[in-house]
Amino acid sequence: MNTSTLLSVDDVSMHFGGLRALDGVTLEVRPQQVVGLIGPNGSGKSTLINVLSRIYEPTGGMVRLGGRDMAGIPVSAVPSLGITRTFQNVRLFPTMTVRDNLRMGTTSATRSGFLSAGLKLPSARREEAQIQTQVEEIAQLLGLETQLDRVAGDLPYGLQKLTELGRALVSSPMLILLDEPVAGMNPSEKQALVAALKRVRAARSVAFLLVEHDMVFVMSLCEYLYVLNFGKLIAQGLPEAVRAHPGVIEAYLGGGHAAH
Ligand SMILES: Nc1ncnc2c1ncn2[C@@H]1O[C@H](COP(=O)(O)OP(=O)(O)O)[C@@H](O)[C@H]1O
Ligand SMILES: [Mg+2]
Repeated sequence: MNTSTLLSVDDVSMHFGGLRALDGVTLEVRPQQVVGLIGPNGSGKSTLINVLSRIYEPTGGMVRLGGRDMAGIPVSAVPSLGITRTFQNVRLFPTMTVRDNLRMGTTSATRSGFLSAGLKLPSARREEAQIQTQVEEIAQLLGLETQLDRVAGDLPYGLQKLTELGRALVSSPMLILLDEPVAGMNPSEKQALVAALKRVRAARSVAFLLVEHDMVFVMSLCEYLYVLNFGKLIAQGLPEAVRAHPGVIEAYLGGGHAAH
């Protein structure tokens, strides 16, 4: 493992009964790098995100964050270790405001205990002020500053996705896992998300593992790409080289794949 590796995935497999959703996957993400993971539907992309966020315990292999083996770490502890995520289908609290949804992203590391908060101790008030500042800065960065008091469920889809990204950002993670962020977006929503992600990259030291089916979107953001097909990595490299790879063209355009 390279010493500058943030996330290392080493020979990871995830089997569901006889189905090998992931089959010996090895990849790495360096600090502040934007890495894309692409592949046809059913190739194992979401499964990898679920393994990395500890929803699934992998059948084999090892995942390390900053050199530390993640085996046995509970799902609830993952954000405080520095990994947050968004979901393929937007998951917000629809009746809550954008502001409160963003606040939900703060981890126990940034939140005071209930007792000190309830007693309005100075430490709790300081933290509260910090959280508010952080939420407002993130909203500004994502262009959500005028939406903070709106109910999340009332927002157009593109803004809901940005709110979800904001929630993943407020704890200042080292790595954000994005599962098909542009799925279901129209072209202008896609453009807005690309622009927001570029602003985030410029302003924050955070790495992204961007899982996507949409090759054009991935090409516009990623520094390095991995390609999954039927649970196995079939190619990796710089985006231009990967796009021209015959196996990748075959996986995307060739037959043999039931489109979901
Ligand atoms: N919890 C699960 N139980 C059984 N099979 C699963 C489960 N999750 C995913 N799969 C299967 O694993 C394969 C990879 O799925 P997934 O990771 O969702 O693909 P992708 O995100 O690339 O479209 C698919 O065949 C899917 O049906
Ligand atoms: Mg998926």
